[in-house]
Parts: sequence; C-alpha cells; structure tokens
Amino acid sequence: MQVSSGAPLEAWQVSSLQRYWRGYIERVMEHHSIEEEHFFPFVEQRARVPLLLSEQHGILHDSLDVCDAAMTNLVATGAVGRDAQLLDACMAPYAELLRQKTEHFAAEEQVGLPLFREHFALKDYQPLQDTINASLSPGHKASFFHAMSSKTRAEFCKVHGVPKLALLLTIMPGVRKFDRTLHKPLLAIIEGSREAHTAGCGCFA
Ligand SMILES: [Fe+2]
Repeated sequence: MQVSSGAPLEAWQVSSLQRYWRGYIERVMEHHSIEEEHFFPFVEQRARVPLLLSEQHGILHDSLDVCDAAMTNLVATGAVGRDAQLLDACMAPYAELLRQKTEHFAAEEQVGLPLFREHFALKDYQPLQDTINASLSPGHKASFFHAMSSKTRAEFCKVHGVPKLALLLTIMPGVRKFDRTLHKPLLAIIEGSREAHTAGCGCFA
C-alpha cells in the first residue's frame, strides 16, 4: 500500500516483515508436522485418511519455498519502482500460497473433519490433544494462545487441565514475547507507523 502510494520501503518494515515471515513458516511447518505425525496416524486407527491431505501439504511446502526466496530478496532500496518490484515478487507467489491454503482448508473441513466425526467421539480426542499440546514448541504454543481472548485461554486451560501456574509462568511470557516481537511489528507495518505499536519494545534491533 505504502509502496504503491509512492513511498519506498523502509529498512524497519523489511526486517519486521522478514522476521514475521520466518515465524509464519515455522508455524505452518510445525502445524503440518503435527497433522502428519499425530493427527493422521490417530485417524488411521479407524479410517483411511485421503492421500490428498498429505499431498496438499507437499504442494504448500513448495509454495512456501518460492515465497521464502522472494522474501529473502526483499530489501529497502529507497527507490519506489524497485521496491514495488521486489514487493510484487513476494506478493504474487503469496497470492498463490493463499489460494492453495484455502483449497487445503476446504479439504480438511469437507473431508478430514467429517471423517473424524464419523469415527471418533469428542472424548476420544482428549488424549490426542494432550499429546499434541505436549509436543508443541514454545513458539507454536505462544502463537496458539496469542490468538485467544483471555477468557477463551482460561477456559481452554481448564478443559485441558493446564495448571494456572503453567499458564502464568510459562505460557503467558511466551504470548507476550510473540506479541512484542512479531504481532505488533506486523501491525505497525499495516498501519505504516513504526511508533504505533512498538514504543519501547526494541523489536527492530
Ligand atoms: Fe493440513
């Protein structure tokens, strides 16, 4: 938006975007690993998981590689035309990635979830959820809980037996770090104001 409106990219915008992108890739890859290593084998105990779901993961990984290469090439040159060109080189493959993701989510909703519901009750899911929770990296856990309101977070912990102390001492520091180092810098880019969300956080070092 800023580039198309005539202003070149600034270095802090590029570094924040690239940092967010790295976190994004890590989360997507970990999410797929969880499905491949835990969720699919769990469902396979009672039903055949369509190959399509794993195949789509492979397609998405190829797309992520293409986006990643473009994002690595992104630099703030200070030249409007050149910056717009570099940004376009990121946005075009990202649009394709979004299209593939939408397709994959639809397959999971229309094929994967009905299959699960047909063969499992909610109570069957609890041990799997516990295994998945235990395997989550701190970064993934932080992004997972960051997306929840404090009320939802508390309810989730209650349902899944996460002690309050663990929420306060291990989960919340990670959530705050995620917010400070990835989420707020991204908001700053969207709003075009470095100060808007990052006062005193040192995110751009
Ligand atoms: Fe998936």
